[in-house]
Amino acid sequence: MERKAVYAGSFDPVTNGHLNIIERAAKMYDELTVAIVVNPQKTGFFTVDERAEIVREVTSHIPNVRVDSFSGLLADYVNESGFIAYVRGLRATTDFENELQMAQMNALLFTGDTETVFLMTDPKYSFISSSLIKEVASLGGSVDELVPAYVASRIKEKVKQK
Ligand code: COA
Repeated sequence: MERKAVYAGSFDPVTNGHLNIIERAAKMYDELTVAIVVNPQKTGFFTVDERAEIVREVTSHIPNVRVDSFSGLLADYVNESGFIAYVRGLRATTDFENELQMAQMNALLFTGDTETVFLMTDPKYSFISSSLIKEVASLGGSVDELVPAYVASRIKEKVKQK
């Protein structure tokens, strides 16, 4: 049986911190799906299609990564797709409380044996968030150390357009 896992999030945009989790999780499972959550209440910086295209581009060196998107409840998506693991990255202790709450709620909602699996974010990236990257880039700061070069160029393009 193929061991499939999912790593979900907004990825608006994907950062080096996310990529580090993706590379490590991809080694643990036969297939890793990076699933972009569609939140109808939020206007993203990038559209969901743009985010998916960007994630595809920056993960093209990892053969067992696929990119998908979903709306609604994460547990419904997980239950329909038969993932054995739901991967989360923990950046700092401040993430823990929220993650514990979500993991316990998801444990109730998962109908199969899916486990939430936590990977510790590389300390180099523990202070990054997508919002911080967007804020710094929008104000003219460099984020080149924090996102893949392709993402940095797409952010610059978007900032010019906005
Ligand atoms: N490196 C760098 N940044 C990271 C990171 C890492 N390893 N891990 C997380 N981040 C950043 C993200 O970019 C994000 O930044 P932002 O808030 O500025 O956009 C922030 O940390 C929070 O990340 P995360 O907790 O993964 O939030 P998210 O919005 O990306 O994903 C879901 C949230 C998808 C997990 C959650 O909202 C969900 O499950 N939604 C579906 C609805 C649902 O089922 N709700 C019930 C859940 S029990």
